[in-house]
Amino acid sequence: MATTSTPIPFLVAILLILTTFIITLTFAVESSSPSSWYEEKEPFLGMNIGTDISNILSPQNLVSFLKQQKITHIRLYDANPNILESLSGSNIRVIISVPNNQLLGLGSSNITSSSWIHKNVVVFYPKTLITGISVGDEVLTTVPSLSTLLLPAIQALYNALVSSNLHKKIIISTPHSASIIQNPFPPSQAFFNQTLSSVIIPLLNFLSRTGSPLMLNLYPYYVFMQNTGFVPIENALFKPLLPNKEMVDPNTLLHYSNVLDAMIDSAYFSMKNLNFTDVIVLVTETGWPSKGDSKEPYATKENADTYNSNLIKRVFGRSGTPLHPETTSSVYIYELFNEDLRSPPVSEANWGLFYGNATPAYLLHVSEIGTFMANDTTNQTYCVAVDGVDLKTLQVALDWACGPGRVNCSEIQPGESCYQPNNVKSHASYAFDSYYQTQGKGSGACDFKGVAMITTSDPSRGSCTFPGSKQLTKQTKQVMNSTQSSNAMEKLRFRIFSSIKISAISNILQIYLVFYFPSMLLFFL
Ligand SMILES: *[C@@H]1O[C@H](CO)[C@@H](O)[C@H](O)[C@H]1NC(C)=O
Ligand SMILES: *[C@@H]1O[C@H](CO)[C@@H](O)[C@H](O)[C@H]1NC(C)=O
Ligand SMILES: *[C@@H]1O[C@H](CO)[C@@H](O)[C@H](O)[C@H]1NC(C)=O
Ligand SMILES: *[C@@H]1O[C@H](CO)[C@@H](O)[C@H](O)[C@H]1NC(C)=O
Ligand SMILES: *[C@@H]1O[C@H](CO)[C@@H](O)[C@H](O)[C@H]1NC(C)=O
Ligand SMILES: *[C@@H]1O[C@H](CO)[C@@H](O)[C@H](O)[C@H]1NC(C)=O
Ligand SMILES: *[C@@H]1O[C@H](CO)[C@@H](O)[C@H](O)[C@H]1NC(C)=O
Repeated sequence: MATTSTPIPFLVAILLILTTFIITLTFAVESSSPSSWYEEKEPFLGMNIGTDISNILSPQNLVSFLKQQKITHIRLYDANPNILESLSGSNIRVIISVPNNQLLGLGSSNITSSSWIHKNVVVFYPKTLITGISVGDEVLTTVPSLSTLLLPAIQALYNALVSSNLHKKIIISTPHSASIIQNPFPPSQAFFNQTLSSVIIPLLNFLSRTGSPLMLNLYPYYVFMQNTGFVPIENALFKPLLPNKEMVDPNTLLHYSNVLDAMIDSAYFSMKNLNFTDVIVLVTETGWPSKGDSKEPYATKENADTYNSNLIKRVFGRSGTPLHPETTSSVYIYELFNEDLRSPPVSEANWGLFYGNATPAYLLHVSEIGTFMANDTTNQTYCVAVDGVDLKTLQVALDWACGPGRVNCSEIQPGESCYQPNNVKSHASYAFDSYYQTQGKGSGACDFKGVAMITTSDPSRGSCTFPGSKQLTKQTKQVMNSTQSSNAMEKLRFRIFSSIKISAISNILQIYLVFYFPSMLLFFL
């Protein structure tokens, strides 16, 4: 069958691309060690460090831990002098923050701002590489009463930096919630909430004039949670999508394969609406919780691993956004440690990659990207069937794997441990993974005409152990050919359809309806 033979030139091409990718990454990681924001030439990954932790590391141990994990950029929610002192000489770049409760003082007095800069920046710099100051936290949406103080505080702090001749080294900006942007989907129709214009326009003027970024806290997790049934989980988690499941912006025809890119582009379009085209987006927070309560079923270790691992790979892969492929935003992951002292819901205390004592909350799968988080990775990858693909193509690929592909398919025969769930997708996943593992896990070994994808999550379940799984593998029966098809995809489609709750249609939901309309048509046809 011509449709299923492994295309060797394609394999070679993939290998070449992969090699180039890895070389580029290695180069990127080793070549950059700029000492200020303005010298950063490559997008970077940083970690937010919240400190609502009962057994928090000492500042010295914290810095050793950051070095061990090759973390080069961090953001603090204050300007803790002990931590800043410990960072001295470490080459770790840090953004410090002005808590909201200090805005009043700073916004109304140049002297207060001057002494703030002296006390929190000048005495540490440049031994401690302070690269930015984030002023307030989501002020426009969480404490609107302080909005009018925001710009005066920023301006006063900036004046103080100028006086210390540090304004060319250190940026000043203020992080916003994504909710200051209305109609974010499709991104081309996004605009800033006009009620906030009196702050946003002068702020953008300041950012543009000083070459500072627009700081945004962007959470695909919440977009997904508020729109389950419309936003496919794959889309929120940067999982590979078939073209017909990508979101297409009807005005620009740009394809969005993940929610974060769409959110970033919605900010670029919002700025463009106000004629600002030279301010870049810095993602000051994004992440995924690894644990939640009964109302937060998607807050799992597996999803948190997938989101953060894929996020890290994307930033280092420098793929930009559909609107700005040339510009990849740097990102600070929220957050380094679980903050066990934070109040419910449960997810609030579980955004960290690590527990407070620096043991991993879960393992990331980022081994391709060099040394970053090198101590927190495993090499294991699996190959599984892509969701939502044409069943016939899947069946053909499955037949090929168990036939000419010489996969041992005995485990997916009736009565064997991987027979249930009895459907093409799960049988195909088993066969694809088996092929992939025996072929040495080259990415060319996980394609099958586009119906397979590599994942870092172990697909094993119950008594069914997938090839390559770290769980104990079991011995079994004989080689046979593959299996019956089933109506799993039809069930899936039905589930998506039936989960549309008219009563729950919110603003965002309606937007997503429009956004998804083209792909949903394809879905249901
Ligand atoms: C702070 O200083 C700037 C310029 O030096 C000045 O324009 C502004 O009025 C001062 N603000 C206050 C509150 O004194
Ligand atoms: C726009 O901002 C104003 C002021 O914060 C707020 O009252 C209003 O609800 C916002 N509009 C939307 C649609 O979010
Ligand atoms: C942006 O620029 C265009 C063309 O110069 C102008 O027509 C428009 O009014 C400007 N918009 C804003 C919000 O300044
Ligand atoms: C990982 O961490 C342990 C201590 O927790 C350390 O001994 C080891 O060298 C680290 N490995 C890497 C690759 O950094
Ligand atoms: C990952 O695999 C490479 C090559 O197979 C090996 O050198 C490395 O030690 C592995 N890393 C981990 C964390 O298992
Ligand atoms: C196929 O796998 C089973 C265990 O799952 C094993 O018992 C059997 O010998 C294998 N057949 C071949 C031809 O390798
Ligand atoms: C498996 O399928 C191949 C063709 O795909 C066929 O030649 C072979 O006889 C089949 N084996 C069994 C055990 O059915």
